[in-house]
Parts: sequence; structure tokens; C-alpha cells
Amino acid sequence: MSIYDKGEPWAVEVKAGDTLWVCGCGHTKNPPMCDGSHKDHPGTGPYEIKAEKDDTLWLCGCGKSGNLPYCDGSHNR
Ligand code: FES
Repeated sequence: MSIYDKGEPWAVEVKAGDTLWVCGCGHTKNPPMCDGSHKDHPGTGPYEIKAEKDDTLWLCGCGKSGNLPYCDGSHNR
């Protein structure tokens, strides 16, 4: 399953100070996080996210967001 095959956002709980590497290539086997698979698919690497507070992040699961890696509601259109 690709990060963008879900068709709806991924909810990821984070704690202040966490650093996440979110897949940007679409080929990870551990969606929505990068697993290094982008090394076999040159062009796009992971997105680095540094959490500033405890929060729930809504990450794109359809690939249509205009604000990757975050969901912008495009999966509803
Ligand atoms: S596996 Fe997709 S960006 Fe790293």
C-alpha cells in the first residue's frame, strides 16, 4: 500500500519536539512514514516535520493535496 492509496488523511499523534520524516515519494512500505524506499525512486525525498506542540497531524493520504504533506481536504473533491 502506498501512502497515497488510502484515499483519506492519516492521523498521526505527535509530541512537542518530535521529528518525523513523512514519505514524499509515495513508495514507502510503512506509510505515512519514510522507510528509505525513495533511494530506488530518485526525484522526491521525505518531508521533515518538527512538532512544536503535542498535536494530531493530518497527513495527505490521496496525493491530491496542494499543501503536501498535509491534508487540505482535496480528497473530498
Ligand atoms: S520512502 Fe518515500 S520519501 Fe522516503
